[in-house]
Amino acid sequence: MRIVSGIQPTGNLHLGNYLGAIRNWVRMQDQVADTGGECFFFLADLHAISMPHTPAELTANTREMAAALLACGVDTTKSVLFNQAQVPAHSELQWLLNGTARMGWLNRMTQFKDKSGKNREGASVALFTYPVLQAADVLLYQATHVPVGDDQKQHLELARDIAQKFNNDFCDEDAPVFTLPEPFIPPEAARIMSLRDGTAKMSKSDPSEMSRVNLSDDADTVMKKIKKAKTDPEPLPSEEAGLEGRAEAKNLVSIYGALSGQSVAEVLRDHGGEGFGQFKPALGELLVDTLRPISERFNELKQDTPELDRQLATGAAKARDAAAGTLSKTYDALGL
Ligand code: ADP
Ligand code: NA
Repeated sequence: MRIVSGIQPTGNLHLGNYLGAIRNWVRMQDQVADTGGECFFFLADLHAISMPHTPAELTANTREMAAALLACGVDTTKSVLFNQAQVPAHSELQWLLNGTARMGWLNRMTQFKDKSGKNREGASVALFTYPVLQAADVLLYQATHVPVGDDQKQHLELARDIAQKFNNDFCDEDAPVFTLPEPFIPPEAARIMSLRDGTAKMSKSDPSEMSRVNLSDDADTVMKKIKKAKTDPEPLPSEEAGLEGRAEAKNLVSIYGALSGQSVAEVLRDHGGEGFGQFKPALGELLVDTLRPISERFNELKQDTPELDRQLATGAAKARDAAAGTLSKTYDALGL
């Protein structure tokens, strides 16, 4: 099993990013390593230039995301961690696959429509062809599985269509260049809501610092944010139905469950009847225990640019090696 997965480099990482995305990567890595497989994790910095961006911010966000992944448990002895821009084979293969991808296929991609909005004419060409780069990202490493959320299913289908057409058009039947990747359905990710408003997603875009717990927050800050989280005056119910219409309470119980590995029902079985004066400190402590080692390592790594760059360079060298064979077969198959 070889899994390839990318993540957009973004800064100001918070509990939602950890419980909703990063932690799943770490779990997947350990699961795959146990079966003798391998994960290739990349920071999608080449994808980032499909939207307006600030170069210095992109550099900083790429390092910050790398620091977060390492701090959260991505283990470079088990997985390959790198950023796309250091592996030219991604861009090269994209161009080679542009000859195989059909305009009609890309025209059907709903994400382009969503992201370009009303300004279709002003969108970058990269935003339009980005699914071909995504195809290159995974086909380059002969990925057997690609984790996909709902919004990415269409792009994986496209990667399979490109691989199939290329194999068909340019390869002997018994020597296809590309493996058709299968979807890997990741374990259900937690969806974490704002601490100020239980119905909005916890997000770095929320102007209120109190709305989120950052991965860089120290223990006092975490405790303070949980203590001030918006709630209602009722005690916790002992059954899930009692959380109906109580979005803030439900969010805190869900966070507790995501951290303790319990379902909402299990958390309520243990904590039903408690008021928030009792439940919040318990949640705060659990959160601090989980985040302390992560935030310590994260803050350390964020300061240590040479170490981060060294880790990314090592990962990129491994990725370049792994990509070389497929890239050269692709050139050959095309008569180049
Ligand atoms: P933000 O919403 O803070 O801008 P991003 O959109 O950059 O975060 O998300 C990066 C990753 O983290 C994505 O995989 C996204 O699904 C996940 N993520 C972000 N916020 C949350 C959240 N509140 N709950 C669960 N997952 C989240
Ligand atoms: Na966002």
